[in-house]
Amino acid sequence: MKPNLGITDKNLKAIHELLNNALADGNMLYIKLRKFHWNLAGDNFMELHQLFEEQYNALELSIDEVAERISTLGGTAIGTTSEFASASQLKENPGKVPTNQEMLKELVSDHETIVRALREMIDDIEEKYEDKGTADLLTGLMQKHEKLAWKLRKYFKN
Ligand SMILES: [Fe+2]
Repeated sequence: MKPNLGITDKNLKAIHELLNNALADGNMLYIKLRKFHWNLAGDNFMELHQLFEEQYNALELSIDEVAERISTLGGTAIGTTSEFASASQLKENPGKVPTNQEMLKELVSDHETIVRALREMIDDIEEKYEDKGTADLLTGLMQKHEKLAWKLRKYFKN
């Protein structure tokens, strides 16, 4: 049964696509955090091992909220790694294990990329596509990524 929520079909379609992009970014970063959690070595091993785990657990929850929002709005959430890779703007580096410092830098940068993408998305979804519910969900998600980025950025003095 089609939802009748006061959002036009055309707008819903655009929102589904934007949310699938956010879902793809979340999943790409989730996978990267797991890889880094598994492959850390040296200084701060256990601390970073736990920090990365805390972050991918946080992402697991937010990814689910985004996917279920797509379904709530009558859309289909993508759910394969190849779709995630093509819909995401985050980059993977297969076969490479960065140093702990490089991991931290890359993760900060990925969170910030997501924050910037969400900020733009929120404006469009609220103003152009008139969906305050999704704008609110994504605003919370953006704040979550801002905080996750902060916890990693603090490993650098300047
Ligand atoms: Fe683990």
